[in-house]
Amino acid sequence: MRLLLEDIGAVISDVCTYFPQDGVLNTGGIGALKRNNGNGSGDDKGSGRLKPYDYAGLRLSRDIHNDTGVLLLSARTLLTYKEIELLIRQNIALKAGDVKQATTVQLIDDAIKEINEAFGDKEDGGPIPCDSIHDRIVPMIVQMSRHACLTSFWEHLILHDEYTSRHSIGVALMSRLIGKAMGLNEENLTELTVAGFLHDIGKVGIPQEIINKPGKLTTSEYERMKSHTTYGFDMMKNTKGITNRQALVALQHHEREDGSGYPYGLKGDQIDPFSKIVAIADVFHAMISSRVYKKPIPFYTVLREISRQAYHSLDAAASLCFLKRVMEMMVGNKALLSSGDEATIIMLNPDDPVHPLVEVNGRYIDLSKERSVQLECIV
Ligand SMILES: [Fe+2]
Repeated sequence: MRLLLEDIGAVISDVCTYFPQDGVLNTGGIGALKRNNGNGSGDDKGSGRLKPYDYAGLRLSRDIHNDTGVLLLSARTLLTYKEIELLIRQNIALKAGDVKQATTVQLIDDAIKEINEAFGDKEDGGPIPCDSIHDRIVPMIVQMSRHACLTSFWEHLILHDEYTSRHSIGVALMSRLIGKAMGLNEENLTELTVAGFLHDIGKVGIPQEIINKPGKLTTSEYERMKSHTTYGFDMMKNTKGITNRQALVALQHHEREDGSGYPYGLKGDQIDPFSKIVAIADVFHAMISSRVYKKPIPFYTVLREISRQAYHSLDAAASLCFLKRVMEMMVGNKALLSSGDEATIIMLNPDDPVHPLVEVNGRYIDLSKERSVQLECIV
């Protein structure tokens, strides 16, 4: 779907007006996404030899036996830290050929399957499956963040089917990406990844008719929807295996820098930095995703909206880190301009990453200076 520039504000405004149930920027969708050239891996670039624990989150491609021929692990087993520790104790070193080289679709489908198994039919709440999250789900998200073609995940994380799981994975993945770009250490990255994954856990307490309502929510329905923040915090705050910061993210991910958010209208330093990061990831995924009640918004429109909100409702430093990191992945890729021309993204402007230098038919255009034309979508 292509939108003229003048339509963009109206679309965002309309969607926010009619579908305000998930925060200020509850718009979604993305145009056709294309795999990039492999220049945008998430966590750890490079093709060096994998360490044993780097295999966590992947599935075995063959049976693994010990020296005496005893079957230790069968093909298709998901490698968690426990399986890897078992192999280390047996002096078995995995090789690249021992694991399935999963496609992005397979990785996401595998993660969704794990989520469904871990959470089951949890409509009335219940214990949070912390062990499964840490041992099985987070390693899969880490694998995604290491993938050479991170943008290809977005294509499959925005689908309507299994939206809740895709949203949880997408927000965890993008939160991790932002945290990594901000220089967080591995311990903090893991804490943040889990926080991103569980940020909307409180929605288990909201009726599905409200969550999936195709029309405008009534005032009381909207208030009920907003309570997923406090409900999630209550679920998490005394749960073993969940940190205080992770519970705070569930409570604060709809708070905004300028005090326009909920549930308490906190501002700036009153909001935990993890909550600010997850808020950006949440807005990004919500905007690019397809829902029954939302029209798609082109990819670069989403990025520009986040850039604009960086000086109002979203944290400026975290937003800039996010935009730089995402746009770095796009260098070398083709994009459609609002003029209808196809451009190649050549180089970023560090202070204004969503307006890069592009090349169109041999002519270079600095979009930070030439504001009559903008990036629209990936082609
Ligand atoms: Fe939320």
